[in-house]
Amino acid sequence: MFEKLPTLQADPILGLVAQCRADTNPNKIDLGVGVFKDQNGLTPVLKAVKEAEIRYLQEENSKAYLPAGGTERFISLVNELLFGQNHPVIKDNRVATIQATGGCGALRVAAQVIQRANPNSKIWVSDPSWPNHVPLLGSSGLEFRQYPYYDASKNEVDFDAMMAALEDASTGDFVLIHGSCHNPTGADLSQQQWQIVTEFVQNRGLIPFIDMAYLGFGESIDADAFGLRYMAENLPELVLANSFSKNFGLYRERTGTVSIVVKDPAQVSLVTNQLLNVAREIYSMPPAHGAALVETVLADPILKDLWIEELAQMRGRIIEMRHALVDGIQKAGCDANFDFIKKQNGMFSFLGVNENQVEELKTAYSIYMTKSSRISIAGINNNNLPYLCESIAKVLAK
Ligand SMILES: Cc1ncc(COP(=O)(O)O)c(C=O)c1O
Repeated sequence: MFEKLPTLQADPILGLVAQCRADTNPNKIDLGVGVFKDQNGLTPVLKAVKEAEIRYLQEENSKAYLPAGGTERFISLVNELLFGQNHPVIKDNRVATIQATGGCGALRVAAQVIQRANPNSKIWVSDPSWPNHVPLLGSSGLEFRQYPYYDASKNEVDFDAMMAALEDASTGDFVLIHGSCHNPTGADLSQQQWQIVTEFVQNRGLIPFIDMAYLGFGESIDADAFGLRYMAENLPELVLANSFSKNFGLYRERTGTVSIVVKDPAQVSLVTNQLLNVAREIYSMPPAHGAALVETVLADPILKDLWIEELAQMRGRIIEMRHALVDGIQKAGCDANFDFIKKQNGMFSFLGVNENQVEELKTAYSIYMTKSSRISIAGINNNNLPYLCESIAKVLAK
């Protein structure tokens, strides 16, 4: 029976990772995969997480199921982290949050609850966006529309085009917005643009669906959460998918949360039960380990400070590499201006070179990036930087 299944195309990013792994060139550089790497090219376990892990292993006394939505303490600490202490939606008890299996699990569960609430709602997704958004959210049966997001000639958010496209959205549609560190462009909305979008969606009866996969990777936790917190304060409803994969380095532990802000506290238990019911249909119970580590870190002021410091170090390394890349390309004799890369946020930017140049960087220099020229800045370090900059300058000089 299974032989009748169609052959699937390889996932472009995972395919690139496999190609890079098989490449024997000692100078090869992987700018494809979206995982933080330190100066030595390693994805470390954070010290705060390691300490939490030691404590957890000593204290853990059962492997019985967790509460289906995660522990109460985890949920309350995470709500406080995301929305901020004393945020009105927390004070007014207007948030339904449950633990999720990473950001992907959160997106999937949220989409299914949206589909149950209104199967006619469309989800407006930025063009470009993270390639997994459409398959993940689409599997719930929801329809998509795209809004233009990036002006490749100016290397910045094309805000006018975005807002013009959203004019066509209907009441009850959802606008998927990257909370910070837009993947793949690195171009984020300014605070003023968040405010304009907030007013717009309010007037049109649209609902924001915020995907927060890189909180703290842009400027700081508070600055990166500005849009989320502002919208939550000013709008009646909002959906949030949150991932701890990147900012806690918990990729393989599948740790995140999904939240729905509702109009009235009386709706919280109804919405929570819907979230839990969808999760039950997909995977039933959440995994314990990653969430226990986040809970332990957030509950202990010393560990929390250590985590914030380590997050700042990861962010600082990315910012440093953004500057070093731009300056290095210029030093290698390239005339093109890459200054926009210094201004963008988070792990990704488009290098802005064409597909042939991407291909040449791969085949002639073993430098791997997606066809769109998205580069994962964390793949750059002081050792591979000179080779990378010289190779880019050579390819662009042709
Ligand atoms: C924009 C965006 N959303 C969600 C995710 C999902 O992350 P997770 O690994 O936690 O499922 C990612 C991961 O790369 C991402 O880039």
